Amino acid sequence: MQSEENDMVILTDRNALRAWVAQQRSSGHTLGFVPTMGALHAGHLHLVDQSRAHTDRTVVSIFVNPTQFGPGEDFDRYPRIPDQDQRLLRQGGCHALFYPDVATIYPEGFQTTVRVEPLGSDLCGRERPGHFQGVATVVTVLLNLVKADKAFFGLKDYQQFVIIRQLVRDLSMDVAIEGVPTVREEDGLAMSSRNRYLSIEDRRRATAISAGLAAARTAFMAGEREAGRLEAIARRIMVEAGIHRIQYISVRSASTLLPMKTIDSEGVILTAVKVGSTRLIDNMLLM
Ligand code: PAF
Repeated sequence: MQSEENDMVILTDRNALRAWVAQQRSSGHTLGFVPTMGALHAGHLHLVDQSRAHTDRTVVSIFVNPTQFGPGEDFDRYPRIPDQDQRLLRQGGCHALFYPDVATIYPEGFQTTVRVEPLGSDLCGRERPGHFQGVATVVTVLLNLVKADKAFFGLKDYQQFVIIRQLVRDLSMDVAIEGVPTVREEDGLAMSSRNRYLSIEDRRRATAISAGLAAARTAFMAGEREAGRLEAIARRIMVEAGIHRIQYISVRSASTLLPMKTIDSEGVILTAVKVGSTRLIDNMLLM
C-alpha cells in the first residue's frame, strides 16, 4: 500500500518499498536510511538532517520491534504516536516513511536470528538478554529491504551502533553505517523516547547521568587515565543525586567495547541506570 501527502510517501509493505527504492535508484538518487521505533524527538530529526545532508533521498522506518523487548519490559506501553511522528517527518523533509506491521517484518515461517557475540551479551546485553539479537535481526531485515547507501544511528545507543557496524562488516553488507552524536536537552539529559516516562522528580534526578559522565570526561581531559577512577567519579555524582540502581558504569575501548583498565587509546564511558521504573542509558567519548 502507498499513500502520498506533502511529498512524503508512506509505504507499508515490502513490495511498495522495493518499488519506491528501485524508482529512486533508476533516477540516479543516493539513499539514506534512518531506522526508528517512532515517538520521534529532536535526536531522530537530527539523524534525518544528517541523512538529507549526505544523501539525495531519505527513508525513515517506524517499527516497534517486539523481538528486542524482553518479558516484563515496556513493549506494550512503548509510546506510539504515528500522527505526530508523520507530521515531524514531513516537516523534517523525509522522503519516504516505511511503516510496516509485525507480519511484514516477520512473516509466518520466519526462522532467522542474527547474533553478534560476544558483543551482544556484554553491558546492556547482560541486563537485557536477547535484546541485541532482536536489534541485529530487525536491522538486518530493514537494511536488506531499504538497500541504502548510508544508514544513520544515534551514538546514544553506543553499543547498538558498534554491534550494527560489526554485523554489516561480518555479513559484507553494502551500506555505510554512520554514527551521529547524541542530542541532549538543555540540562544535558540525552534525548530518548523513554524520557517521557519520567516523573518530574525523576526527570530532575536524571540530569545526574550526563553530569556524572561529563565529570568523568573532565577528569580525563585533565589527565586521569585510570578507568576505575573515572567510573568512581561518575558513580559518586549519580549516587549523590539519588540514582542508586546503577546497572553499570564502564570505561571501554571506543572501537571494540572491550574493557580498559588504563585509557591508552580512544575510550568511551557508558552507563545504564534505572530512575524510578525507567531504564536510561548514556555514554561519552573519551578522546
Ligand atoms: O534504536 C532504535 O530505535 C532501535 O533499536 C532500532 C535500531 C530502530 C531497531 O529496532
